[in-house]
Amino acid sequence: MTAAEGTEGTEGTDTGLPMVVPAYDLPARVRIHEVGARDGLQNEKATVPTEVKAEFVHRLAAAGLSTVEATSFVHPKWVPQLADAEALFPLLGDIEGVHLPVLVPNERGLDRALDLGARRIAVFGSATESFARRNLNRSVAESLAMFAPVVARAKDAGAHVRGYLSMCFGDPWEGAVPVGQVVRVAKELMDLGCDELSLGDTIGVATPGHVFALLAALNEAGVGTDTIGVHFHDTYGQALSNTLAALQHGVSTVDASAGGLGGCPYAKSATGNLATEDLVWMLQGLGIETGVDLAALTATSAWMAGHLGRPSPSRTVRALTGAGTEPQDPQDPQDP
Ligand code: HMG
Ligand code: MG
Repeated sequence: MTAAEGTEGTEGTDTGLPMVVPAYDLPARVRIHEVGARDGLQNEKATVPTEVKAEFVHRLAAAGLSTVEATSFVHPKWVPQLADAEALFPLLGDIEGVHLPVLVPNERGLDRALDLGARRIAVFGSATESFARRNLNRSVAESLAMFAPVVARAKDAGAHVRGYLSMCFGDPWEGAVPVGQVVRVAKELMDLGCDELSLGDTIGVATPGHVFALLAALNEAGVGTDTIGVHFHDTYGQALSNTLAALQHGVSTVDASAGGLGGCPYAKSATGNLATEDLVWMLQGLGIETGVDLAALTATSAWMAGHLGRPSPSRTVRALTGAGTEPQDPQDPQDP
């Protein structure tokens, strides 16, 4: 099939959807792990009301996202925005066909999450000592030791466990992070019994060749592509290119944040995650199934942008809603 043949009978851009032109050797379906309600909101200074967060999660699920990371059971002083986890989680209930994973750093967090019926948890380690210290108040080895009973007990309770690994491509304090170092910590994390590994480019410095190199090294070390998800922040505008590189390698789990919300409170140079809308636009154009209704998702991000009081940084949200594209009045002294 040629590219031109692939465009026949497909949607065009005037419909708010991209023209579909499939490419070879990409997964037929991608599972989007939506992190907007957790990674997206955790860095917001102004407290978002619990009811707004609950509606956000419900709207994301209604837009077709099958995995919606809901919150974190961390120390409330470390991430004040998510201090309402106990109040929020029960408001979510059981949403049919939708997983609602939560972050837990330690057994205290696990107890809190299991008490409320959480069925999917995520521990979050670091490939570098500097970030482990800042994010978890532990060395890398100490944090893995902290996770060991969490993973074991979560598995005993029948929960699914994701292992996040941050700073896989670069670290603001240590600079470049050697691939071998990332693979070593990733292996140790997976050996605890995690079902899934999410590779975090916490500060958004990765480039596609680096993504290929890390994935190949992980495969060589025995970590299969089917257990790997990618988690790109978009600081340098590379998140979508890096995602395409990962898809070409066979990865079919991609983390993204509705509207491109996000950052990390313990890595100041981290900006928002890859925007879910930008990801969906690309995947739809490639003819890859996601189950996501782009119009419903965009409306949700525009609604959340209203609550946060600033436009979404997602290019797709802006293009589809016209936000941020109003012509400026050159006579207006407020418009520099
Ligand atoms: P610590 O100060 O070392 O805690 O913090 P501790 O173990 O010494 O305990 C001190 C007190 O905190 C104790 O209370 C504990 O009970 C309590 P006391 O006995 O003194 O009264 N405590 C807790 N309370 C509630 N819930 C808990 C909890 N744990 C202890 N879970 C700790 C260690 C891990 C708790 C802290 O460092 C922490 O909460 N860190 C979380 C940081 C965080 O959430 N960062 C953002 C998420 S990671 C991220 O965004 C990256 C990612 O997106 C991927 C990427 O982009 O790379 C995932
Ligand atoms: Mg993140």
